[in-house]
Amino acid sequence: VLSSHDKSNVKGLFGKVGGHLEEYCAETLARMFAAYPQTKTYFPHFDLQPGSAQVKAHGKKVAGALAEAANHIDDIASALSKLSDLHAQKLRVDPANFKLLAHCFLVVMAIHHPSLLTPEVHASLDKFMCVVSTELTAKYR
Ligand code: HEM
Repeated sequence: VLSSHDKSNVKGLFGKVGGHLEEYCAETLARMFAAYPQTKTYFPHFDLQPGSAQVKAHGKKVAGALAEAANHIDDIASALSKLSDLHAQKLRVDPANFKLLAHCFLVVMAIHHPSLLTPEVHASLDKFMCVVSTELTAKYR
């Protein structure tokens, strides 16, 4: 459960990152595909070379979802409800993969913003990604 402190840490971080979120999410995907190639099996229809137009476009979509969750941080379940249906009913992504994506996202944020990623903000962001992942895999059964 996110504390009020976690919520303000996450909102603050997203606010400072602003328009770069899309690029960071594309980088997160590229890093996930490189470090954990098993994640590529869900994207057989994509050109997965780093910097490909499809990875960039998908990064933009993921960024939109994360921003939406951060903007509705008191009700992430409603904010991600449609996306949760999609991941559960259509995509059926193994929940283990969400941890990999979350880890890569933390790494990318730390690379670009080492001074913002204090241990406290790191912990809050990690909790936020856990909540988002839990929501996106909540309707699997
Ligand atoms: C699609 C967000 C995790 C696989 C999507 C879309 C969004 C999204 C916004 C586009 C939905 C649409 O087009 O309406 C997220 C978020 C995640 C997450 C916020 C976690 C924080 C994952 C993981 C995988 C995955 C871990 C697999 C490794 C897919 C696939 C699609 C998709 C295969 C469909 C791609 C396409 O054909 O366009 N996701 N996702 N997602 N996601 Fe996720």
